[in-house]
Amino acid sequence: MYLTRGTGRLRILMVSVLLIFTFWHLFSWQTEPYAFSIGSLHHAPTYNLSGHTEFWRQLQPLFEKHEPNCDPPRRIGNAQTVGYKTSDPDARPDMLEMSTRDVWSMTKAHSDFVDAINANPPSLSYVPGSKGLVCTAGGPYLPVLVISLRMLRRTGSKLPVEVFLASRDEYEEYICDKVLPSLNAKCVILSQVLDKSLVSRPIEKYQLKPFAMLFSSFEDILFLDADAFPLAKPESLFEREPFQSKGMLTWPDFWASSASPLYYRIASQEVAAMDLRQATESGEVLISKRTHFKTLLLSAYYNYWGPTHYYRLFSQGAAGEGDKETFIAAATALGEPFYQVSERICAIGHSTKGGLAGSAMVQFNPIEDYKLTQKGIWRVAGDDAVKQPRPFFIHANFPKFNPATLFSQQAVNPAFNDDGSYTRAWTIPEIVINEFGRDVEKEFWAEILWTGCKLENKFKSWENQTAICQNVKKYWTAMFGQEDPRGV
Ligand SMILES: *[C@@H]1O[C@H](CO)[C@@H](O)[C@H](O)[C@H]1NC(C)=O
Ligand SMILES: *[C@@H]1O[C@H](CO)[C@@H](O)[C@H](O)[C@H]1NC(C)=O
Repeated sequence: MYLTRGTGRLRILMVSVLLIFTFWHLFSWQTEPYAFSIGSLHHAPTYNLSGHTEFWRQLQPLFEKHEPNCDPPRRIGNAQTVGYKTSDPDARPDMLEMSTRDVWSMTKAHSDFVDAINANPPSLSYVPGSKGLVCTAGGPYLPVLVISLRMLRRTGSKLPVEVFLASRDEYEEYICDKVLPSLNAKCVILSQVLDKSLVSRPIEKYQLKPFAMLFSSFEDILFLDADAFPLAKPESLFEREPFQSKGMLTWPDFWASSASPLYYRIASQEVAAMDLRQATESGEVLISKRTHFKTLLLSAYYNYWGPTHYYRLFSQGAAGEGDKETFIAAATALGEPFYQVSERICAIGHSTKGGLAGSAMVQFNPIEDYKLTQKGIWRVAGDDAVKQPRPFFIHANFPKFNPATLFSQQAVNPAFNDDGSYTRAWTIPEIVINEFGRDVEKEFWAEILWTGCKLENKFKSWENQTAICQNVKKYWTAMFGQEDPRGV
């Protein structure tokens, strides 16, 4: 009897060991350390809080001194959001009203601010010769950012990253102290700089982007939205034309400009032709603080007075009101150079009854685009015969590929067909998907799976969520079978 019980126990033990071994083998990727093997990295400079604070103490009084000093422009309606056209463009919308006196007041404030930064600019704090990525995140954007950074590291990029959080409340110890450093990224709390000021004025949402650039440590900056990632090493963009000679690169939006004629009067500029270029999609911006510090200062001025005055002047209620137009507007007003990629932004997604369910946008290689436009070839204006530049960035903006929300019912469901069955998210247009040259979407899902499982209990915004890992794993298995995501 004693013996039998012993054998039974042994059998249970053996089966257990076998089971544990099997599970450990199947899911061992879940228990791996979060370190991404990226070799030696270019370590981020120590953040110079006193340098940035000192700079802000010089800059903010200039913003306040040159405030618009008048009522906000009055809306008489919203401008239509219309696609960009190279021929026969629609007339520039004119949907704002301002008294002559108010226009004069803003014009004077604008030109006095420009005079002030020309005569005696506050000195920006940055590490000479440094290059890096800057982004803003916090709350539900943090998981999305971790996924994007893991996609960035897949390209072999070693650039350091500064992640700007609006305030101390957004600082998540585990993410900022463990996960991000393993990806050579560092959290910077913007309010630690901004609060050291005499006037307290909230800086939030879209305004954070130019301020993150202004207060980053790097000389040459690639700003990326938390939900955007490159398909190739972004190092090349800094090293080549057009960045070398222009010092500032932007990418286009789908839309035509909807800036008010009043903006051009205030900035003492000719009204820009509607076919000059597309509006800007500011999810990706390359800028040198050395060559373009004045552009950054004026852009920050537009954003500082954005919610009350300038955002309206740049967008008049059309899609995408915010910081997006302030970079090119500032460079133009100051006569500083820039290059905006001409290749059209491209929506990618999957096919539904209603047509393309777009869940991301592709932006193209600026080095190749510049080579074409230097030869006088404008594909956007119909020179379609030549091959398009290669895709360079994916901006997975709508909805966010946050594994905690991705599988719930939303306006666009990138992972589901009309009938509720699973689908791959990015299948059309094929011509662009094929240009990726590899299964980028599968890599993306591998990182979504890693983040959803490995960090399931780590993000504050996921605190009360359940089955995050389980949901992504179910999707992964349905789409990619038993394949180990580590091998992707
Ligand atoms: C920090 O910035 C200040 C002001 O720009 C500068 O004097 C100082 O040398 C900087 N410190 C470091 C460690 O770079
Ligand atoms: C999670 O639930 C607790 C208790 O109801 C609540 O206090 C907390 O704010 C919730 N967290 C999030 C991120 O929603």
